[in-house]
Amino acid sequence: MSTSEQPERIDHQRNRVTVVGLGYLGATHAICMAKLGHRVIGVDVDADKVAALQDGALPFHEPGLQEELSGALATHRLSFTTDFDRAVEHGDTLFVCVGTPQKEGTDAADLTFVDAAFDALAARLTRRALIVGKSTVPVGTAQRLARRVAAASPAGDDVEVAWNPEFLREGFAVEDTLHPDRLVFGVASDWALRRLTQVLGPVLSTGVPAIVCDLPTAELVKVAANAFLATKISFINAMAEICEAAGADVGLLAQALGHDSRIGSRFLKPGLGFGGGCLPKDIRAFAHRAEELGVGGTLTFLREVDQVNLRRRARMVDLIRELADGDLRGKRIAALGASFKPDSDDVRDAPALEVARMLAMEGAHVRVYDPAAAANAHRIYPDLDYAASLAAAVDDADVVALLTEWQEFIDADPESMGRHVRHRRVADGRRVLDAARYRLAGWDYRALGGPERIVSVPEENRTGEFPATALR
Ligand code: UGA
Repeated sequence: MSTSEQPERIDHQRNRVTVVGLGYLGATHAICMAKLGHRVIGVDVDADKVAALQDGALPFHEPGLQEELSGALATHRLSFTTDFDRAVEHGDTLFVCVGTPQKEGTDAADLTFVDAAFDALAARLTRRALIVGKSTVPVGTAQRLARRVAAASPAGDDVEVAWNPEFLREGFAVEDTLHPDRLVFGVASDWALRRLTQVLGPVLSTGVPAIVCDLPTAELVKVAANAFLATKISFINAMAEICEAAGADVGLLAQALGHDSRIGSRFLKPGLGFGGGCLPKDIRAFAHRAEELGVGGTLTFLREVDQVNLRRRARMVDLIRELADGDLRGKRIAALGASFKPDSDDVRDAPALEVARMLAMEGAHVRVYDPAAAANAHRIYPDLDYAASLAAAVDDADVVALLTEWQEFIDADPESMGRHVRHRRVADGRRVLDAARYRLAGWDYRALGGPERIVSVPEENRTGEFPATALR
């Protein structure tokens, strides 16, 4: 025992951190807190997940995080457990990172896991401690939980609740945790603020701005940010619908809008729209919460944001059907991508997988290929055919459909891919393929959201003054 206790004594200045919930958010947070020098225990009810993490095996795909996990475990500052008694005994600052999925049969967020986590901590805390919520919750949840914890905990008011929402994106989880655009500290006391500032001091010291606010404002910042991002994506996809009807090119439209620095080009990429475990359920829960608060009319536009987003999937199926001579029955479709975005194996509410399913429902023979998400996709839709490689997916295909913009698909050579397919016909759902190259290789290239027009400037007259994209 003495050898394992020694580092604790040496590190006594460091903070003792507990992280509850070891999904994307929690596992990343635990690993990054250890990297910052804190002694961290991550706890979860899922024994398989805990065992994998303790063995140094990241149970999901996230670039760079595997290396960080191995590095943090090697410092002996990080461990994982299913033992809540041990985890609560350890931490003075306890982060709650459990999921808040959409509740079955309604748009509301399901707070079962959050409530259970706070209850589990409250019941065990017998000393002064700070519970910090990081999960995305409906506004008002933190104050409710603060009252509940004070009533249930043997330590009573000595257990405080703060809210420190997380803005990390899958695919950039480490970068977003250690170098976020901002930190938001929702606190009810100076003590809570000091504690949070101490734990996140190494991040703050890099010059990251911190917004200190009350609990409801902190909760709202998170949902408002996701609502804004979703709205921006659906705005450009609504423009895509207009472009399709008018014969215009939404790619060029987005490019031109993005040059206006007041608008900006980020999150203005038209295509198959947003999915994942956050944006879709967050805008629904936000609109639902507004209704509960008696201001439902304020956020009805988020319902439309949702509808625009879902319509993209149906429009993609239309486009593929058009390429397949108007009838999908018996057609072989290569579905490139299943995850909700590249560099992720997450298939929650994934537009790509939904399109694959809709194609199959219409009688197409769909063969899905995804570099990382096939196993997760197979769990949800075992009836789809999954290929082990891009070449296998496109083999003998009537139509190739690009659904998630993995780099592997962008880099694929249209000429060599063309040798595998039955017909050189491609539907680009993310507008990332080089239309000119595909057309040159004899493909019938169609993009979601308008023509990807070949501007009628003859090749020999192109001076190079224009960016290539303007000349597609
Ligand atoms: C999102 C937010 O970006 C994070 O800030 C937030 O912390 C996270 O949700 C969360 O609430 O936990 P994430 O779901 O990882 O992060 O993915 P994003 O990078 O936001 O992409 C969301 C979806 O929008 C993807 O399906 C992506 O393909 C799509 N998208 C994104 C577009 O269709 N167009 C764009 O221009 C940008």
